[in-house]
Parts: sequence; structure tokens; C-alpha cells
Amino acid sequence: MPPRGKPFLRWAGSKRKQLTRLGSFWAASHSRYVEPFAGSACLFFELAPASAVLGDLNRDLIELYRVVRDEPERLYRRLCRIAREVPTYYRWRSLNPKSLDRETRALRFLYLNRNCFNGIYRTNTNGEFNVPMGRRPGEYFSKNDLLNCSRLLQTTTLIAGDFTKTLEHVKQGDFVYLDPPYAVKSRRIFREYGKTTFDTSDIFRFTNGLNAIVARGADFLVSYADCAESRLLALGWHSVRLPIRRHVAGFAGDRKLAYEWLISNRPISGQ
Ligand SMILES: C[S@@+](CC[C@H](N)C(=O)[O-])C[C@H]1O[C@@H](n2cnc3c(N)ncnc32)[C@H](O)[C@@H]1O
Repeated sequence: MPPRGKPFLRWAGSKRKQLTRLGSFWAASHSRYVEPFAGSACLFFELAPASAVLGDLNRDLIELYRVVRDEPERLYRRLCRIAREVPTYYRWRSLNPKSLDRETRALRFLYLNRNCFNGIYRTNTNGEFNVPMGRRPGEYFSKNDLLNCSRLLQTTTLIAGDFTKTLEHVKQGDFVYLDPPYAVKSRRIFREYGKTTFDTSDIFRFTNGLNAIVARGADFLVSYADCAESRLLALGWHSVRLPIRRHVAGFAGDRKLAYEWLISNRPISGQ
């Protein structure tokens, strides 16, 4: 088995605290790991599957994964050379990504992610990243961590686009982990992932996606917020409602106990 990778991104809604529970759904009989809402892909890096498909709507994120796959050492060296101080942060933030080459664009994305407020990805109406610098950005991962991630990405298909595009790749024997942004009609959810993203009108497409996964002979696991939509999504599948400590948007009031649903086509232990 390839060595595990430590996720190198900070990501709103990351499932870092639930890896043991989520990982228990992955079985030796699964041939491939598929994650259409990858974000920091922490379950993927934890499971270290021999073969995988990762997708996300965020093109810059997927481009970064490609650069980590292809040029991890140079990326790491360049990252460590950039000062982690206010004027440098805002200078990098003000650069127009379109004016940069692929590797520098990925470097900018990674540097801003590691140094911005709470790892949030938010853009203004022009699509420009506008998150301020964080007050206490933590230590970087090690070069070895990034090299392990790079090794895992060598056997991974990377897809920039809507989740349906990634689901087209699903084959018999795959394990598909779906962790979409929470679309909850009844309350305002902080929009962490940019302007075009998942909302309640996507739930129908999402349900069709789950049916298609099972029709192809693959298994799925969904993480979803506790809301009317998740109860609808769970109908006809195995599901469990679990307490979790949310640490998403970074506002003190949001760091409270919440509930989340796990939904799967396979029986859930402790249900
Ligand atoms: C909750 S995060 C996933 C977090 C991930 N499980 C982790 O551990 O970091 C949801 C992700 O879905 C992506 N996304 C939003 N709308 C999407 C869509 N329509 N299709 C594919 N990805 C989408 C966002 O860019 C974000 O990275």
C-alpha cells in the first residue's frame, strides 16, 4: 500500500476529525476510490488507495493537485521561500492568476490557502480571491508529506468540473465518497466555496447521481448536514445522524455541536 499522505490544504468543511468513522466504509474489496467534491481530500489521503478519481468544481484547486503530482519538490521549495507577512500576503493575493504560469498559479493558491483566515476559499463577484490574512497561520506540512501526496496522485485521475462529470467515471467495485457543500434552504449557510456552487436546486441531480452509482455496481457514502434536505436524501438508503463539532466558517458562534448525516447504500454499523 502506498504511504498515507497528510492533506496539504486547509479546507472549510474538511472531514479531518471524522476519518476513522468515514474510513470504516472503505473495504478491501473496493477497487477504486472516487470523490467528486474533493476539497482537501483528507479521506483520500488517509486511505491512500492504489487507484482513485478526484473531482471538484474549483479549477484552481484541481490545477494545484496536478502541480503537486508533477512538481512537488519545486513547489515546496518555492512555497518556503515566500515570506509569511502581511505585505507579501496581499501582494500575492493581488496578482491576477491569469497572468501567471501554471506552477506559479498553483503556488499562489497554496500560499494563500495556508496563510489566509481559516483556510476559507471565497471570491468576490469578479471571481477574485478576497480572504484576508489569518492571524496565526499554522506550520506548513513537511516536504516528505508533500512527496507522499504526490505519489498518491500519480495513480489518480483529476477532474475539474461539476460532480456529475466525475460520476461519469464510476465503475463496478468503486467506493464513492460524496461530501457536497451543505445546501440548506431553511437557514443561511456561509458560502465558503466561491460563487457558483451547490445549492438546494442541485439536490435532485444529486439523488440521480446516487442511483446511478448503485446501478453501476459501486458503493457510496454521503456526508450531509442535518436538515430537511438530508432527511429526503436519506429516504430509501441506510443512514445515521451523528453529533459533530463544527469548525467550519471560523466565526466563534459557529463552533458548536451540530448534527450530520451519513447516508450509504451499505448497512451502517451502530445504526
Ligand atoms: C465540503 S467541501 C469537501 C470537503 C472535503 N471532503 C475535505 O475533506 O476537505 C465541498 C467541496 O465541493 C466543491 N463543490 C461545490 N460545488 C460543486 C459541484 N457542483 N460539483 C463539484 N464540486 C463542487 C467545493 O469547491 C468544495 O471543495
